[in-house]
Amino acid sequence: MAVALNAVPFISVEGMMKLVLRQGLPAFLVDLARCIEADFARWPSFDKTPRLASHSVDGVIELMPASDGELYGFKYVNGHPSNARTGRQTVTAFGVLADVRSGYPVLLSEMTLLTALRTAAMSALAARHLAGPDARGMAIIGNGAQAEFQAVAFRSLLGIEHVRLHDIDPAATEKCARNLRRLGFSLVTCETAEAAVEGADIITTVTADKQFATILTDNMVGPGVHINAVGGDCPGKTELHRDILLRSDIFVEYAPQTRIEGEIQQLDADHPVTELWQVINGNAPGRTDRAQITLFDSVGFAIEDFAALRHVRGLIGEAPFDPPLDLLADPDDPRDLFGMLMRAEARL
Ligand SMILES: NC(=O)c1ccc[n+]([C@@H]2O[C@H](COP(=O)([O-])OP(=O)(O)OC[C@H]3O[C@@H](n4cnc5c(N)ncnc54)[C@H](O)[C@@H]3O)[C@@H](O)[C@H]2O)c1
Repeated sequence: MAVALNAVPFISVEGMMKLVLRQGLPAFLVDLARCIEADFARWPSFDKTPRLASHSVDGVIELMPASDGELYGFKYVNGHPSNARTGRQTVTAFGVLADVRSGYPVLLSEMTLLTALRTAAMSALAARHLAGPDARGMAIIGNGAQAEFQAVAFRSLLGIEHVRLHDIDPAATEKCARNLRRLGFSLVTCETAEAAVEGADIITTVTADKQFATILTDNMVGPGVHINAVGGDCPGKTELHRDILLRSDIFVEYAPQTRIEGEIQQLDADHPVTELWQVINGNAPGRTDRAQITLFDSVGFAIEDFAALRHVRGLIGEAPFDPPLDLLADPDDPRDLFGMLMRAEARL
């Protein structure tokens, strides 16, 4: 795509929705999971770092960079569990891809939707490697903004049709059930988390609460279950009772980050965990027996966002929906930035 030097291709929220709906959500999620898997498969070639988090009483603002040497990407993302009270999202995000050779951004994109999409694709991708082959039903505890994306990704990648929903706020469960019913899911809404996990092969926890919460207690997790723990993703913000962790084989994205932010912050710093890329590459086993409890201790890692941005950049190709942004100064003489400003005086 030939773009003037001042302009950066841009994907708005509207543009992202068009992109997803044009392809269809299930197919979009399957392709996105494939893209994430491909980048996880070349994990050692990435420049990686735990994300940079700025915590406050109400939430966290994070920067998530990664580079494969050709492209550099970062995401700005927040997590503010009480935002819903003021009509705001708990999680909002935007991100940039840049050309490493020139340092010039090649894409600026909304990433609130893209984060929900990539988180769901990542969860389902992990479950495809870790859940039992006969898994048919999933419980989703926490029925907020991320929940339906999780359900659709698990149906698209694993064929999960039966979903049991629970949220402490019945209005959230009703919203989630309404959205998923339209898509033909077989649904049960539950008044308690205990009821939701009954008979579920996969348990997804995706709640938002800025504290050490106990969404699942040890007695709620039977043999053979795969846990997809999405909501515990900050220091002091977890969802599972520690005893569950001690009975589980634990898989993580990037251990140095997950030890700070994930469920495993409750464990010793040297507690054994497996990075998922090792399973994807066949260097480490995923699930090895039917009775094993597997836990994907998801916190969200920069390579997932890098892969997601790379994926949408490939999709918009020559035909972006949004006009590019006039984001980069482009004086006639690169060293005459000052002159560009002075000459604009007559015009502006
Ligand atoms: N791991 C990742 O990659 C990743 C990515 C995106 C979001 N997240 C995390 O996922 C969580 C959910 O995000 P969201 O955008 O859906 O938030 P949201 O605020 O839209 O929804 C969260 C829901 O959790 C419910 N909830 C809170 N406490 C609960 C409890 N004890 N039991 C049952 N339900 C409870 C709330 O009522 C709400 O409906 C957040 O904590 C967010 O930080 C993680």
